Amino acid sequence: MTIHIGARPGEIAETVLMPGDPLRAEWAAQTFLDDAVCVNRVRGMLGYTGTWRGHRVSIHGSGMGMPSLSIYANELIRDYGAKTLIRIGSCGAMQPHVGLRDIILAMTASSMSTPSRGIFRELNFAPCADWPLLRAAVAATEARGMTPHVGGVYSADVFYDERPDLNELMTRHGILGVEMEAAELYNLAARHDVRALAVLTVSDHLLTHQALPSEDRERSFGEMVEIALTAAFA
Ligand code: HPA
Repeated sequence: MTIHIGARPGEIAETVLMPGDPLRAEWAAQTFLDDAVCVNRVRGMLGYTGTWRGHRVSIHGSGMGMPSLSIYANELIRDYGAKTLIRIGSCGAMQPHVGLRDIILAMTASSMSTPSRGIFRELNFAPCADWPLLRAAVAATEARGMTPHVGGVYSADVFYDERPDLNELMTRHGILGVEMEAAELYNLAARHDVRALAVLTVSDHLLTHQALPSEDRERSFGEMVEIALTAAFA
C-alpha cells in the first residue's frame, strides 16, 4: 500500500490505462476486462486489475491535472512496478482539420509548466511519447477504420483559461489539442525509463465551440480503451 493507492504488492499489472475519471476506470474495467477486481478505492480514485485477451492489465484513475496524475503515476511506477502507462482521455481541438470524436495520439506535449519544472529548472525538456507504443496505437486506430491525428498537444494547468492569445499561439504552431495531463506523464516515463502514451478523443472544439453529447463521449471512450489495449500488447 502507498499513501494514495490501497492495492497490495502485486495487485497492479505492469500495464496501466489511466483515465482522468475514476468512474470511467470502473466502467472500462467492467466492460473490457475479464475477472476485474477493484484494487484501489482510496479517495474514490478507483483502480481495477483484470485481464484482456489473457494479458494482465490495470485501469486506474489519474484525476484531473498534472499534480493529481503525478501522484498516481509516481506510485504506480515506483511502488508497484508499472512499466507501460497509457492515458486515455478527452481533449479540446485547436486545429480546423481536427473534428469532434477524432483520435489524437500525442507525440509530444507542450506546457507552460509541469510538476517537473522544479527538477528540470533551466532545461526545456521535450516530453514525448514512447515510439513503439505510438506506432502500435496508429496501427490499432487505423485497424478500426479511423485515421488518428499524430502530433503535439498542449497540457494546460487550467481548464478555465483567461489567455485566448495563448490558444492562438498554439494553433499557429500546429498544436492539435489541449488537455491537462500528458506532459507530466511523459516526463515521469522518461525519468523512470518506462513507456507512456496519451490516446485522446476530441470532446470539444476551441475554434468552433462544438461539444460532444454525453452518449457520444461514452462511445468514444470505449474506442480509446480498445486502441490503448491493442497498442499495449501489440
Ligand atoms: N481544456 C483543457 N482540457 C480539456 C479541454 C479543454 O478545453 N477539453 C477536454 N479536456
